[in-house]
Amino acid sequence: MASEGAPASNEAAPEPADAPAFDTSVAHVARVYNYWLGGKDNFAADRAAAEQAMAAFPGIVLSARANRAFLRRAVTYLARDVGIRQFLDIGTGIPSANNTHEVAKSVAADSRIVYVDNDPVVLAHARALLTSAAGGATEYIDADLRQADQILAKAAETLDFTRPVAVMLMAILQHLNEDDSPYAVVAKLMAAVPSGSYLALSHPAKDIHAAEMAEMANRLNQMMAEKVTFRGEGEVAKFFTGLELVDPGMANVPDWRPDTEEEARSPAALWAGVARKP
Ligand SMILES: C[S@@+](CC[C@H](N)C(=O)[O-])C[C@H]1O[C@@H](n2cnc3c(N)ncnc32)[C@H](O)[C@@H]1O
Repeated sequence: MASEGAPASNEAAPEPADAPAFDTSVAHVARVYNYWLGGKDNFAADRAAAEQAMAAFPGIVLSARANRAFLRRAVTYLARDVGIRQFLDIGTGIPSANNTHEVAKSVAADSRIVYVDNDPVVLAHARALLTSAAGGATEYIDADLRQADQILAKAAETLDFTRPVAVMLMAILQHLNEDDSPYAVVAKLMAAVPSGSYLALSHPAKDIHAAEMAEMANRLNQMMAEKVTFRGEGEVAKFFTGLELVDPGMANVPDWRPDTEEEARSPAALWAGVARKP
């Protein structure tokens, strides 16, 4: 497991004997992101893509860590301040520090969490996510965000969709391009949850450190299986249509309710927000 703030490593962890077969010759975002976070669940192609991105935008490592810190603060806010007990976290990523179920259950042990990802390495880690949970429920769905109907049907086996749910889309929507109808996907997810539910999302920005972010996107799109579309403030704000953003509204991740001066100072280039369904 990676730890938030650990230095990036050049060593890949040995493949577990019972790991599913997956292609290690092409970079995949879950493993590239794991490298930026200082994890060891990555391979040469992932590290090469990650390093190319770092050369274009050196702030990406701190940006990824600031995103994890935002995730922790958003889940804490939702569980502690608003009383949310159900989370649908799509684009889970390889387990790191402060995973959603750990943060939510540290506030309320009866929290119910459904994770969704389409990466086989994340699937291989799902067992660890599920067994580490005590009380409540933690489930994992191997599915693509583009198949929102399938996700909602499976999630309904664990979550009660008559009660509020926090839909979490942290650093995933950049992998849906306009042909994937990302706004319709988010609208469908939010239509399935009742009033009092929340949307928490973060999204790489194309209008913060614009030149570096554009170059990083170019490089990742040449090397990584999952292509990226970074979006500007207005484009990200559109995902919250019909919802009520809580204070401070949409912000670069370090500016969203930072817990410490250090968090507030972190360089990052991700728009983020938490909004309530009226
Ligand atoms: C950059 S990581 C973010 C991980 C975590 N949400 C976080 O913010 O720390 C993006 C994750 O989304 C997953 N992902 C990308 N496209 C996806 C899709 N179409 N459907 C499901 N998962 C996807 C990747 O496999 C990866 O684990």
